[in-house]
Amino acid sequence: MFIFGLIIAIALAPSTFGISIIVFIYFWITESHIGDSDDEKFDVKTTKKVIKSIKKQATDSSKKFQEKLERLNKQYEEDFKKPEKQTKTSKIKYISHKAHTEKNKELIELKNNPQYPESLDKTIENNKHNYDLWYELDRGKAVLQNNKQLQQYFFSYGNMHNKKLSVVYNRLFDNLDINTLCKNCNVEIIDYGCGQGIGSIKLLNYLQEKNIPVEKISQITLIEPSEIALNKAVSFLEKTSNIKTLNKKLDDLNDDDLNTNNSAIKFHIFSNILDMGTTYFNIKNLTSKIKNSQKGINYFICISALDKEKLDLFMSYFYGKENVIEFDGEFKNDKNWKIIFNIFKVNFNNSTNNDDIPF
Ligand SMILES: C[S@@+](CC[C@H](N)C(=O)[O-])C[C@H]1O[C@@H](n2cnc3c(N)ncnc32)[C@H](O)[C@@H]1O
Repeated sequence: MFIFGLIIAIALAPSTFGISIIVFIYFWITESHIGDSDDEKFDVKTTKKVIKSIKKQATDSSKKFQEKLERLNKQYEEDFKKPEKQTKTSKIKYISHKAHTEKNKELIELKNNPQYPESLDKTIENNKHNYDLWYELDRGKAVLQNNKQLQQYFFSYGNMHNKKLSVVYNRLFDNLDINTLCKNCNVEIIDYGCGQGIGSIKLLNYLQEKNIPVEKISQITLIEPSEIALNKAVSFLEKTSNIKTLNKKLDDLNDDDLNTNNSAIKFHIFSNILDMGTTYFNIKNLTSKIKNSQKGINYFICISALDKEKLDLFMSYFYGKENVIEFDGEFKNDKNWKIIFNIFKVNFNNSTNNDDIPF
């Protein structure tokens, strides 16, 4: 492979030096990932399969599965001790298997001992400010790239979002007796453009106040294009339930990404994201994906700082919706903050809601 890459690179060199370098680097990188021989290529494929199957069963706590993991770990460890088996592949196999075994144990422990995140006030308190970073946030719309920006986001917007979410969730739970509605059901949360997960953290805090045990939150789906913000959200929420992360933009979602349990009560959180519709993503396409993927009872919690129009447009695409509450105004705190929100419920069933009703 390496030689082949080199030959192609030399052949292309006189005419297109840039391309030849790229081809050379490609073959060099590919080769360094694949290994030295066809056997190793096969082994790497097998290793990937092993990892995939472990990941798939990552929270299998059965004794049989645990024993299988331990047995395989031991086998790879033994293999790796033999000089003739000390190949790059067997090392990869051993290390990745061990890492996944550890992760599996960790996940099982979390599953057996779930917790709500600490209150949002406490989370926000820990953040430092740096005014020089403020402009990089692009009024909160930027896809954040580093920890300093994450801290600055919390400092600049955390307090305001926290207070606004309190207003919204208070109003939601004034109008919704979640304990009656959800006697034997689970709750799922989908947080669109979740950033560091403020909307979900706050909702979990409220559910805790309403005596919804954390075991009832069966899944939280976090959608966010900033990898570092998404990881931060996971770190706040990982002790709560199954977390599904989608590190992508809303336009890149497919229907399957949004899969939920039909019988769960779903809370869809749009915290300071619908304002960005039209410019950053297509609102109508997003509603189609939601309508194609959801069944049963769904609450949509849509909060905005600027634009009621976008919230209303989003809501208009859902046929058979039931308005829970809408608001457009200011609320008094230490500051007068503008707050706009629409909360509505849709019970998707087979006969309604999936038709596209023209706006
Ligand atoms: C104003 S922040 C809101 C974050 C969070 N929901 C909150 O209330 O703190 C907007 C978020 O949208 C994300 N974002 C930017 N472009 C996006 C896109 N095309 N699709 C989805 N999210 C996007 C940003 O990374 C950022 O986290």
